[in-house]
Amino acid sequence: MAAVKLSVKKADLKESKPIRVDANGKPVMLVLIEGKVYAIDPVCSHREGPLEQGLLEGYNIKCPWHGAIYDVRTGKGHEETPWGPGQASYKVDVSASGEITVDV
Ligand code: FES
Repeated sequence: MAAVKLSVKKADLKESKPIRVDANGKPVMLVLIEGKVYAIDPVCSHREGPLEQGLLEGYNIKCPWHGAIYDVRTGKGHEETPWGPGQASYKVDVSASGEITVDV
């Protein structure tokens, strides 16, 4: 794991609108929910669908390709969609000035 400071800041994120960013060559999906930033691997563990393009309902993101559901807080796959076992989840740190660092 390495702490990587991202080029986007918390102020760049829109509530419940996931985006994909690059963290030293590693893709990361960031999403802001109720003021908190979460980060998971955006490449679906089923067949590599782009999770940041999926439907977000509460804390659950649904893969746009075959519907696997993951909790953005943990990366855990939903029990109703076992074909998507789970995503790596990354620790996020937001500085007082809104800079975002992820442990990837
Ligand atoms: S690629 Fe995501 S559910 Fe199949």
